[in-house]
Amino acid sequence: MNNLELLRGVPMFAHLGDDHVRLLSASLGSQTFERGAMIFHQGSVGNTLYLIVHGQVRIYTSSQLGQEISVTLFRDGDFFGELSLLDGHERSASAVAMRATSTLTLHRAAFLQAIRTYPEIAVTVLEQLSARLRHTNTYIEHLASTSAPQRVIRTLLDLADQHGVLEQGTTRIDLHLTQDDLASLAGTTRETVNRVLGGLREQGLIQIERARLSVLNLAQLELINVA
Ligand code: CMP
Repeated sequence: MNNLELLRGVPMFAHLGDDHVRLLSASLGSQTFERGAMIFHQGSVGNTLYLIVHGQVRIYTSSQLGQEISVTLFRDGDFFGELSLLDGHERSASAVAMRATSTLTLHRAAFLQAIRTYPEIAVTVLEQLSARLRHTNTYIEHLASTSAPQRVIRTLLDLADQHGVLEQGTTRIDLHLTQDDLASLAGTTRETVNRVLGGLREQGLIQIERARLSVLNLAQLELINVA
């Protein structure tokens, strides 16, 4: 696939006409990352916007003691790295490839130019920023107010909501996830995640096959969450 075809698959550019997409594709680069490769570090200078063509990326922050908290996960069609391009400050979080990941890249000047030239892109970016801010608020609320097992369940519900694919009455979370990934998202330990997942599996609420997690009964899982 060439840049033009790849761009067509990125929601940020979905509203643009063919001529505009063609113009924009001339400014694009591409970068691929192996599983586990760092894309950038929190605090570094940011000059590039990334659009995920294929793969999965974890965004996380690190405390001064080195403890990581995962902020969110991105996958095909998502973009990241926009904040430092917009405000000129350093990267607000780190990004690591959770699987082999291919991206299209846009340099700061081209991104800002694209936003000025195509208001549709600015609107999409703002919509995404609003959604991310809302999500972060909910996340903070849960981190602050619930027990560790509840946070694990909340994380599963969140992931099912954001990345769930409905398949014959079950919701498959369309991500590659280890128990460490879940622990870092829920702000708890892998042992707690292991215990909670084991319990949910015994109750027939979830199923795990090769790092793919499916929620078999979403309504019931939500009930456990509020209990
Ligand atoms: P930037 O600050 O350039 O680099 C880190 C990126 O992580 C940031 O841009 C956003 O793309 C993304 N990011 C940081 N914080 C959040 C958040 N709370 N929710 C979603 N994405 C975020």
